[in-house]
Amino acid sequence: MLVLGIDTSCDETACAVVEDAEQILSSKISSSINFHRQFGGVIPEAASRQHLEFIISVLDVCLKESGVGPKDLDLISVTRGPGLVGALLVGINLAKALSFSLGIPLLGINHLTAHLYASFMAPEKPNLPAVGLVVSGGHTELVFIREFNDIEIIGRTRDDACGEAFDKVARILNLGYPGGPIVDRLAREGEKGKIRFSCGEFRNSLDFSFSGIKTAVLYYVNKRAVSGERLAVSEVNGICAGFQEAVVDTLVKNALSACRLKRASQLVLGGGVSANSLLRERMLALSKTENIQIFLPPLELCLDNAATVAGLGYHLYRLKQPHSDLSLEAEPLLGFITT
Ligand code: KG4
Ligand code: ZN
Repeated sequence: MLVLGIDTSCDETACAVVEDAEQILSSKISSSINFHRQFGGVIPEAASRQHLEFIISVLDVCLKESGVGPKDLDLISVTRGPGLVGALLVGINLAKALSFSLGIPLLGINHLTAHLYASFMAPEKPNLPAVGLVVSGGHTELVFIREFNDIEIIGRTRDDACGEAFDKVARILNLGYPGGPIVDRLAREGEKGKIRFSCGEFRNSLDFSFSGIKTAVLYYVNKRAVSGERLAVSEVNGICAGFQEAVVDTLVKNALSACRLKRASQLVLGGGVSANSLLRERMLALSKTENIQIFLPPLELCLDNAATVAGLGYHLYRLKQPHSDLSLEAEPLLGFITT
C-alpha cells in the first residue's frame, strides 16, 4: 500500500511516500527555520505563508523521487493537530484536494502520536504495550500506549514544554534559534557539575515542570549582568551543561517511574528533544541497569517529518480507523487519542 504523508504543523513543510508501515520511498522537508530565525521564534502567520509557498514544490519533488505517480497512491495521511492552526490548514486542504480528486481515502493524524510512531519505523521495533515519552517544542507527555488508537496519558508538563525550555534558555544566553541543538552542542564543552540547576518535582505525580529552571537560568544571567560582568564562553557552556543535566535527569527519572508503574519493559521516545545526545546516552544507559528496552527514533525521524505521518496512517488504516472526509478540520489543541 502506498501512502502519502503530509505535515505542516509548525515550521517544516513535509511530504513523504511510504510503502506499507515503514519503507520510506521519499521524505522531503522544506524547513522555514532560517526565515523564522530572524524573529527568534516561529511567527504563526508567517509560517502559514511559508507552507503555502513551498507545499506544491515539496509534493512534486517527493513524488518524483519516490517514483510514484499520484494515481498509484492508495491513502492520504495528514497531520490534523496539534500545531499552528493556519499552518495545519495548508496541509489539510492539500490532503483533501488530493483525496477528492484521486478518489482515495483520507486520514487525519495526531502529530504527537506520529512522533511516537518514529521508533516503530526503525529496524528494531518495540512491541505494544509500551510506555511512550514525547518531548517536543510544544509538548512533554508520558503515555501508556496499548495501541495507536488507545493511549493513556500518565504524566505531562504543567507549564513549559521541554523543547520550549531549551529554546528559551538559548534565547536568554543569546545563542540563536532553535535552541535545543545549540544547547546540546555547547553543553558537551561545559564542565560537568560546576553550575547546577534543578527542575520542579511533584509528589506522587509523573508530571513535569520546566518553567522554574528557565527562570533560574534567567536570574543567574541577570545577576552577572547587574554586576557588569560578561559571561565567559566556559561559563555559558557550563550553564548549558547544568541546565541540560537537570532536564535530562527529570525526563529519565519520570520515564523510569512510569515503566515501573505500568510494569512496562519497553520505553519509546519521540519528538525533537529525543535527538538530544545526553538524553539518548542516559536512556541507553538505563537499558543496561534496568530491565527496560529503550527505543530511540532514528535521528532523521526525531524532528517534524511526514514519513511518520504516512507510516502511522497505514497502521491506523489497518486498525480500521474511520476515514476522515472533507469536513476534516485543523485541531490546534488536539491531545492524544485516548479511546
Ligand atoms: O518535535 P519538534 O520538531 O517540533 C514540535 O513538534 O514542537 O521539536 C522541536 C523542538 C525544539 O524546541 C528544538 O529546540 C528541540 O526540539 N530540539 C532539541 C534538539 N534538537 C531539537 N532539544 C534538545 N536537544 C536537541 N539536540
Ligand atoms: Zn513535532
